[in-house]
Amino acid sequence: MLDQKLLQQFSIVAARAAYSSSLLKGKNDKIAADQAAVDSMRNYLNKIEMNGKIVIGEGEMDEAPMLYIGEKLGTGEGELLDIAVDPLDGTTLTAKNLPNAISVIAVSESGNLLQAPDTYMEKIAIGPGYPENIIDLDNSIETNLKNIAEFKSIKTSDLTVCLLERDRHDKIVSSLNKLSTKIKFISDGDVLGAIYTCVDKFNVDMYVGVGGAPEGVLAAAAIKCFGGQFQGRLVISNNDEKLRATKLGIRDMKKKYYLNDLVKGDVIFCAAGVTDGEMLKGIRIDGSNFMADLLVLHSENKINKIYTETLEI
Ligand code: FBP
Repeated sequence: MLDQKLLQQFSIVAARAAYSSSLLKGKNDKIAADQAAVDSMRNYLNKIEMNGKIVIGEGEMDEAPMLYIGEKLGTGEGELLDIAVDPLDGTTLTAKNLPNAISVIAVSESGNLLQAPDTYMEKIAIGPGYPENIIDLDNSIETNLKNIAEFKSIKTSDLTVCLLERDRHDKIVSSLNKLSTKIKFISDGDVLGAIYTCVDKFNVDMYVGVGGAPEGVLAAAAIKCFGGQFQGRLVISNNDEKLRATKLGIRDMKKKYYLNDLVKGDVIFCAAGVTDGEMLKGIRIDGSNFMADLLVLHSENKINKIYTETLEI
């Protein structure tokens, strides 16, 4: 099991990254907002006593100068850990000062998180409490929703599905419309989109659609802690992406990944609000301190809490 002190250490890393990018809120510069979060995460991760390795990061070694897949972090003393980061999920949300941008990090024992290339991934997620495999990426939207509706003894028109508002999802949207299923569209930030299925107050029954593969692994980490279900499949659309996936050890490009293929064993997940959001408020500054809202999860210990951390700037 992962050491309890990692929970506190990693949540502070997420909070500090959120603070750094929040300073660029509304400045219409998504690259600068992302860079601020990346710099902060790298700096604070390097202070932790561990032998950490980035398995989900800003990209692969030749395309990202920092927090690239394979980068070693920490003091070099201590446990061997896999680290997945999305220093800023919602670069555009931050640049435009829109809700729901977060800084995200997950950690597992070495070898337990999938090293996913920076490509797209088909995703499907539901919250806890359902029979195993009631949903499947290979089922039609109709079958998945009918299964959920039947299990809950309600109609498909009473269900809500969350998805990114993108043209590539037009077919899914027309299937949902045919079933009169409600849609919660998000403009960005599909780590939170998937997490909504696990938190009652959002009334989201299923998350579906194509988004970033790195965000897929991070969402899977959170869903595992909540006891929900998640499946993903990489979308490899050209030779370059195939080569990059191969370099990371992926042989079967069409593999359907179940939750335990993406995240094995114990996992810790931390997200901090950057801009004000439905689940987490954004960073607030009070004199020489800042306040960050955190979602902190630990699978083995069944820890699941949202709280506010106050830290010195
Ligand atoms: P960034 O923060 O890197 O801009 O990503 C935001 C995001 O909405 C992710 O949450 C999602 O997985 C991905 O972009 C979807 O990609 P695209 O915007 O190309 O559809």
